[in-house]
Amino acid sequence: MQRPNRRPQWFRTWFEPNPPPGLGDSNSSRSLQEMNVTLRGQRQHHRTVSFDALANAVVLIEQRLLPHDFRLVKTRDYRETAEAITTMIVRGAGAIGATAAYGLAQGARAFRGSRLDRFEKHIETVYQTLKDARPTAVDPVNAMNAVREEMSMGETVSERQDIAFAAASRFAEEDVEHCRALGEHGASLIQDGMRVLTHCNAGWLAFVDIGTATAPMYAAQAAGRKFHVYCDETRPRCQGASLTAWELAQQGISHQIIADSAAGFLMSRGEIDLVIVGSDRVLGKTGEVANKIGTYTKAVLAHRHGIPFYVAIPLSTIDWELGSGLEIPIEDRSGDEVLGAWGVIPGKGGKPGKRTYVRIANPTSTARNPGFDVTPPELITGIITPHGILKPKALSKLRGKR
Ligand code: MRU
Repeated sequence: MQRPNRRPQWFRTWFEPNPPPGLGDSNSSRSLQEMNVTLRGQRQHHRTVSFDALANAVVLIEQRLLPHDFRLVKTRDYRETAEAITTMIVRGAGAIGATAAYGLAQGARAFRGSRLDRFEKHIETVYQTLKDARPTAVDPVNAMNAVREEMSMGETVSERQDIAFAAASRFAEEDVEHCRALGEHGASLIQDGMRVLTHCNAGWLAFVDIGTATAPMYAAQAAGRKFHVYCDETRPRCQGASLTAWELAQQGISHQIIADSAAGFLMSRGEIDLVIVGSDRVLGKTGEVANKIGTYTKAVLAHRHGIPFYVAIPLSTIDWELGSGLEIPIEDRSGDEVLGAWGVIPGKGGKPGKRTYVRIANPTSTARNPGFDVTPPELITGIITPHGILKPKALSKLRGKR
């Protein structure tokens, strides 16, 4: 289908210089792609997930409060860590992967005793609790399997406890490095003046740092390119409107939030040049991609309008086992998310307000709320990985790589 390429009058003003904040800052030695948050005038580096070894606690950004309030929370034991994943204090495939890895280490370190058989029984309980916290993303399973494999090298309980912490930290570091590498590979896709659509949040907050769908954007920005991002609102939980928009604002990237249903219209008017999304599970055998509900719709629309559609992932998002997208466990979430919305009532004197749920739908109606959908490989132009951009059916090249 032919794509008109109309650029509205106001287009140019968006592309006024948006240098990455921190460029030229004397105290900013961090990478320009990392999460640098300005709070009360101070720019600080944060990670979505980290570990306080002294307190044996997982430290998380409380994502349900964003963009209105920025708070860190600590989980005291692995059950609280699993709860934080279920209740979406932490969300996004890579971030829950690292949280699960740290949660496993947290559970391992809390064990008292020296009998290996009892320790392993305990670890199995910890593993299952964290695995069951959310079903669709494969990263938690891959992360915990990697930690367990390394732990098996330890000969005593205490050795395995130490290894668990080191392995979880390694997973978290690898997550950051994968995001950085895929950002470099994907950066050339974003040229000056482009309008890029993204869905949900596959940014800093969905990973330990940097993100996947946003990584090429941050790398293109660091290379001095000017572009504009449309963030799908991403009903029902609005991760695009609340989280991606917050990140892009923090990073000084030109952006606007659009209603989920507006993307087709913008595509038909030639106002979207490229789509980049993340994923919760990519099947290595078939190239099918599970991601936030609505992704499939955008892929169909992009295909109809001849717009390149890319999926950005670290290696922990690849599932080498399943042979069909129909086997991917799709999370069924509470209908309340569809029937209403969460927002914040402003506090007094500029203080953060109270998080509040408002019912929108007809009081006697119920809702169905599948959290994810599956996009087939023929709708995907390429998968941006830490080892380069591949066709979805060529992922087997990555097997065994780190
Ligand atoms: O339900 P969420 O917010 O955890 O869903 C997140 C997404 O669908 C992201 O797009 C996905 O995790 C890919 S980026 C990690």
